[in-house]
Amino acid sequence: MNTDHQGIKVKRVTSRKRSRDGLRSHLTPAKKRTGSPEEPEGGHAVLMMEEKLEGDCSDQEDLFGDYDSILGDRAFLAKLEEVEFGMGCDNRVASDPGFDGAPHSPEDGYMALRTGDSKDCSSADVVSSLRDTFMDELPSSQLAFQQELLKKGAWSTNSSASPQTGDATGRTTRGRPTSRNRKDERDAEAQAKSSVTDRLKSAMRENATVSSLGVSTSAARKEAALTKEISAAMEAREAGPAGIDLGPFYGLPSKVKELISKQRGIKDLYDWQKTCLTLESVQQRRNLIYSLPTSGGKTLVAEILILRELLCRSMNALLILPYISLVQEKVRGLASLGLELDFLVEEYAGSKGRFPPVKRRKKKSLFVATIEKGHSLVNSLVEAGRLQGLGLVVVDELHMLGEGKRGALLEMTLAKVLYVSSSTQIIGMSATLSNTEDLQKFLKADNFTSDFRPVQLMEYVKVRDTIYEIHPKEEECFNFSRVLNFKYSSSMQKVDPDHIIALVAEVIPAHSCLVFCPSKKNCENVADMICKYLKKGFLKHREEEKARLLQELRESGAGALCPVLCRTVPFGLAYHHGGLTGEERRLLEEAYSAGTLCLLTCTSTLAAGINLPARRVILRSPYVATDFLKRSQYKQMVGRAGRAGIDSLGESILILQEKDRLSVSPAVLWSHWVSFVSCSSASPALRSQAKQLLSSPLESCYSHLMDANGQGIHSLILSLVGLKITRTLEQIRDFVSGTLLGVQQSHSCQEKSLWEIVQDSVEFLRHKGLISVSTDCENNTVLLVTNLGRATYKGSIDLTYCDVLYRDLSKGLDGLMLSSLLHLVYLVTPYDLVSQCKPDWMVYFRQLTSMTATELKMASVLGVPESFVARKAAGQSVRKPADPEVVGRLYLALVLLSMLKETDLWAVADRFRLTRGFVQSLLSSASAFCSCVLHFTEELGELWAYKALLTELMRRLTYCVKAELIPLMEVAGVQEARAKQLHGAGYKTLCHLANADPSLLVQTVPNLSKRQANQIVASAKMLLMEKAESLQEEVNELLSLPADLPSS
Ligand SMILES: Nc1ncnc2c1ncn2[C@@H]1O[C@H](COP(=O)(O)OP(=O)(O)OP(=O)(O)O)[C@@H](O)[C@H]1O
Ligand SMILES: [Mg+2]
Repeated sequence: MNTDHQGIKVKRVTSRKRSRDGLRSHLTPAKKRTGSPEEPEGGHAVLMMEEKLEGDCSDQEDLFGDYDSILGDRAFLAKLEEVEFGMGCDNRVASDPGFDGAPHSPEDGYMALRTGDSKDCSSADVVSSLRDTFMDELPSSQLAFQQELLKKGAWSTNSSASPQTGDATGRTTRGRPTSRNRKDERDAEAQAKSSVTDRLKSAMRENATVSSLGVSTSAARKEAALTKEISAAMEAREAGPAGIDLGPFYGLPSKVKELISKQRGIKDLYDWQKTCLTLESVQQRRNLIYSLPTSGGKTLVAEILILRELLCRSMNALLILPYISLVQEKVRGLASLGLELDFLVEEYAGSKGRFPPVKRRKKKSLFVATIEKGHSLVNSLVEAGRLQGLGLVVVDELHMLGEGKRGALLEMTLAKVLYVSSSTQIIGMSATLSNTEDLQKFLKADNFTSDFRPVQLMEYVKVRDTIYEIHPKEEECFNFSRVLNFKYSSSMQKVDPDHIIALVAEVIPAHSCLVFCPSKKNCENVADMICKYLKKGFLKHREEEKARLLQELRESGAGALCPVLCRTVPFGLAYHHGGLTGEERRLLEEAYSAGTLCLLTCTSTLAAGINLPARRVILRSPYVATDFLKRSQYKQMVGRAGRAGIDSLGESILILQEKDRLSVSPAVLWSHWVSFVSCSSASPALRSQAKQLLSSPLESCYSHLMDANGQGIHSLILSLVGLKITRTLEQIRDFVSGTLLGVQQSHSCQEKSLWEIVQDSVEFLRHKGLISVSTDCENNTVLLVTNLGRATYKGSIDLTYCDVLYRDLSKGLDGLMLSSLLHLVYLVTPYDLVSQCKPDWMVYFRQLTSMTATELKMASVLGVPESFVARKAAGQSVRKPADPEVVGRLYLALVLLSMLKETDLWAVADRFRLTRGFVQSLLSSASAFCSCVLHFTEELGELWAYKALLTELMRRLTYCVKAELIPLMEVAGVQEARAKQLHGAGYKTLCHLANADPSLLVQTVPNLSKRQANQIVASAKMLLMEKAESLQEEVNELLSLPADLPSS
């Protein structure tokens, strides 16, 4: 790789030039600033919901689905229509850590808180028209703020930074005296010739500078030089063949280095990062697996490789992350990088994402996807014959391959990429990999490992009041460290026999602490218990911020606040688990990251889900629910200890009780524990148990394609046939031999050969009516997918439910009740969630009594008569039992209907006696399943009538808020409460947000930090740009000459 950057021709920057001239925006109407009147995300749902919706964070569950996001912004489309049809070519353009001996109440003062030529008028019109009308509605608060700045002369220091003024022609001039108007006119003409893309881009870039009022001349010069460099690099890329180095920073322009430094505060790469990026395998684009301890900085390496793919090779890239929340966080975090470096960041999570993605000629996209959406995306690219356009697939947390149905899905995705597109590079990273050889063989990948950790981690265990230090690499790995020093009253000793309070009081509030608990309930209890004994002095620490947090929590719940949080937040404590709403989680996570909260009690999912490090991590017991901790889980949890750049060390303390020794199962190999048992006063029986543990294999990552009687392999083969990747049994066998299952066959399926597995699976699919056998013109036996089979794999419907779903939908056609949404909602209520929720018969009965006669009739036709529920509610025996699946599904449908009617999560959760987290999960699962059902029906002509109905229902389920908030909630990470605030402050459309001034947002939107404001604006700009680019591509497609046009 050329890292010297010798070959780059530096050219003068023209249209791409960024300026640092303060508060300007091509899209922001000058009149608003000057007062001039002239100016303007199936079946696979089952994959994980089944497993642990109750025990873990709800956002780990992601279902299949498609959501056409353009349809989401009606204002934008309406505007374009208007432009297209009517408007022609109009040119308008730490205090005292400790605890009290006695419990007390914490109430003090907290009452809870293209075509591109000049003939193409439409492009220019689109922009100017957007500019005119959308901007007429700029928030008055922004206007006031900018006028205030004008008065203060904030713009007078830099003439180019002055606001727009209007001229007599009605065109806008930007920050220049009238004598310069001719130049401006020429500029305007040139601009009118440019494509929507370029104009939007330049507008966005200028907007991106709004927060840079105080930039120094030298900084501006430096910035200009960097901008030149990137423009030159871009031009070099456009002129030359793909795959060339664009600059000195690992093939990238030094602009990238500057951006990483500016946006993340990372000035230099760690040595291992440098080594990894210069590996021969990386240079030659071979597949790579790299593993390092938690917090090792793996993400940055992946991001640099992604940027190389997007910028140097001009190829799209896919980043697969395990949770929706992580996808949203990444989309938010990368938006500003995308705007600066001219690529798109597209979100594929929940019900968001387009299949196949829009084909873009110029801009390249980074698709950030969950495991489920990543799979659907790859399928859609295979079907469209576009997989080769995907240059790179990066999988974070690669060990997920070994986790149940989601692992099977990830395996299918990677196996398809490997088989169909040999030019697509695959990179996988993880902190907890053991059998890397198997994974290397599967992915045909090189391996890089290092045990680098930026902050040293000290591991301890505590038994009774003694703390032992762990030295994992030493023979005698447990060394006595100290006896815990605490003064407990006898009542305290009873309440807190594990001395959690003493352990946390050693670090908080000056440092942060995470306490992992085995269950959700335990999280709440532990947080409550700690608060009862903390000194009142804790209340004074960051008092105002905590009061604000409580207020925000209350607002997010439309006035409702969890009583536990109400008690704990004033002490700087909170719990964190799947029972919280997404918004509550976000607020608590941000407060913890900012130091407002110093302690979180949490379930194991926090370890894998979010980057929330702590000085001290306490494992309250070696269990997750009732299962003994796996070594990889332990590693993930303790790995949270030690904040890079903040703490000089991190420490973990595992609390063990005598009884835990007996619970250690042979399946668990936990060398620390084993060594500890052998070195302490263990009985001979325990010692032999320890020996057995020592000889057990380490937890490895195994294929899950054969789970549940081969559900994974059946789904895989159905899609292989459907997508025409393979047509014969032999081809299928070859494909399967390249999967992780093929690599691990001797472990995962000893009793059958791969050939037998394939034959059985094909027989299963044939029997189910999903595939058929035929002969081709050469008399070879070939497999074909049936209509039901195609609908099943396209809708990502779990094979368990595909026939039930077809039956339900067909039945629905005979008598669909449309006077209420209940019947439709019932049809899209996920089957797999029924087992997660037992009906409360009294609540059920009350719901039935408030139903209309038509609804009651529908319920009865479905198989849930009122009399049945009445008898159940009265505790009487039922003579004619109803199908529990149908009964449970209708109950969940009632919950969903209530949510659609009221949009009040708390009230609905309360009425149905469910946790608000569950209700929210149900809603997001239903919206994702609705999109699966929509795809399913689209493939089956007899079900055509559902399309229009389900499209609208999906939209309602996805947002479940007042219609006015929907455009705002499309922006990654903007949730209901924030959308309400933004709407209240006058930011009503995506365009408002994309053009907002982050500084002003901070001033007018309560409790919004500058970082959050920047991210919201950058994400909105990215989304707006993505929509505009998509429309431009559609225009190009429509106007292009068909290659197969008959000619004379
Ligand atoms: N070269 C660097 N210098 C300073 N900080 C860095 C550097 N590289 C990464 N970091 C920071 O270190 C922190 C942890 O990095 P990252 O999230 O990539 O860890 P990870 O290896 O992916 O860990 P995990 O396995 O927990 O996901 C982040 O805050 C990141 O910004
Ligand atoms: Mg990571």
